[in-house]
Amino acid sequence: MSRSILFILGPNLNMVGQREKNIYGAETAETINEDVRRWAEELGFEIEIFQSNGEGEIISKIHSALGTKDGIIINAGAYTHYSYAIRDAIACVPNIPTIEVHMSNVHARDEFRHKTVIGAVCRGQISGFGKFSYKLALQALSNIFESEAAENE
Ligand code: DQA
Repeated sequence: MSRSILFILGPNLNMVGQREKNIYGAETAETINEDVRRWAEELGFEIEIFQSNGEGEIISKIHSALGTKDGIIINAGAYTHYSYAIRDAIACVPNIPTIEVHMSNVHARDEFRHKTVIGAVCRGQISGFGKFSYKLALQALSNIFESEAAENE
């Protein structure tokens, strides 16, 4: 059975490759997404990649995962640090394992980035490995699915 993953990219992440290259690198969002698609395929996942700069759109997308997706990977960008509405949306889909991801090491940056309001409703957080943070998140979901399947045997 192929697992279906929703990969959500929040505000300003469409600008990766142009924005703050010293932090996020020079590789464009498009080519990073190509890597993500390949990594997902290697793990046998179907993946939908969704980018939005709007909080409401991200919330509706999370709701739409109910009954249609097996896992969520979310880089909520700056919303990570203050969007209680996105946190509540993740809490609406408790049976879908959700991984919080950041390209940069948020703990080594501005103090406001040290706080995550979505972390408590996610399975875990991956931060600081550039585009490979996304690969690690896919691997984390793969491990979760394997251990759930073993428990149900
Ligand atoms: C980010 C870190 C956030 O603090 C920032 O607002 C972003 C990107 C990251 O991937 O490192 O937009 O989520």
